[in-house]
Amino acid sequence: MTNKRALIVSALVSAVLCTTGVAIAQDKFKIGLILPMTGPFASTGKQIEAAARLYMAQNGETVGGKKVELIVKDDTSAPDVTKRIAQELVVNDKVNVLAGFGLTPLALATAPIATQSKTPLVVMAAATSSITEASPFIIRTSFTLPQASVSMADWAPNNGIKKVVTLVSDYGPGIDAEKYFKDRFLFNGGQVVDTLRVPMRNPDFAPFLQKVRDLKPDAMFVFVPSGAGAALMKQYAERGMDKAGIKLIGTGDITDDDILNGMGEVAVGVVTSHHYSTSHNSAVNKKFVAAFEKANAGLRPNFMAVGGYDGMRVIYEAAKATKGGSGEELLAAMKGQIFESPRGPMFIDAQTRDVVHNIYIRKVEKVNGQLYNQEFETLKDVKDPGKKK
Ligand code: PHB
Repeated sequence: MTNKRALIVSALVSAVLCTTGVAIAQDKFKIGLILPMTGPFASTGKQIEAAARLYMAQNGETVGGKKVELIVKDDTSAPDVTKRIAQELVVNDKVNVLAGFGLTPLALATAPIATQSKTPLVVMAAATSSITEASPFIIRTSFTLPQASVSMADWAPNNGIKKVVTLVSDYGPGIDAEKYFKDRFLFNGGQVVDTLRVPMRNPDFAPFLQKVRDLKPDAMFVFVPSGAGAALMKQYAERGMDKAGIKLIGTGDITDDDILNGMGEVAVGVVTSHHYSTSHNSAVNKKFVAAFEKANAGLRPNFMAVGGYDGMRVIYEAAKATKGGSGEELLAAMKGQIFESPRGPMFIDAQTRDVVHNIYIRKVEKVNGQLYNQEFETLKDVKDPGKKK
């Protein structure tokens, strides 16, 4: 009798534990955030994690009736590591969404996991046009290099720049920048006298800059990934390129707000095209920048931070609309979102799953002793020119 009772009690206890266990699992909404937190692209990870945590602090940790759990993992910017972590997050942690992706190869390596597991994958940083075509489950909240490069190729020839050498990092986004800048610049009557590609990791710019000096173009159009702009700017100054009358233009990645202040006088006057500047003049951005700096000991948010912050917005709203639904339901609710970002108006095109936003032409200026990318022209609602129509 006692034994039988004990058996019943233990069966009841395990049943209760089991149901609560399931209830706990279902009551959570899990976001697997995979970022380079160490190594040469650690600044991207730091910016995006800080922005994601700020979004959660401002918008609550419960969404669609579920407690949000943010699982941050360091992929050290190695594609095989990103893919393995994504697999573990999907299989073991049963995350609802995968997010982050600091570089193009990391997003591309992980795309098949999103497709196989039907898990939405929100690209917050990587910016090669073709990424969104690698899986129907990819949504992008960062930007694309063709958006920024075409905008610069339209601005430059109207501003005295007719002869250009391009210099880009030799991988996806750099090749996009080179192609889309060159095609549009030629179409606009400009001349591209050489196209130089530098290694993506630890580049030595010196021999390339020497070549540019010898070619004497009006300007050098540059793309290097976030974080690498400081080394480029230093060598550009050391070689006296600015004094030789060779202007520096590029996408805003080279005058990254995170490190711009440390670049010194040589950066003043550099004109770039991009979707976000810390000094973007709007109430939404002022509030974002103040809160970000307050939460992060004065660190400035850069375009990576805004990609992370907006990515969290897209995830939260989808979780709200579907009450934390299936991967397919979440994906459907991410498509077509339209809202005001700190960058300005922003839209997730339901057809392409890519971001549509303004591209601004900006010039580095000193304001109250600090360097900022000051926006002075706006190209409205720019779609990714890399998408097949
Ligand atoms: C990319 O790898 O897609 C990437 C990384 C950093 C950038 C832009 C693009 O600043």
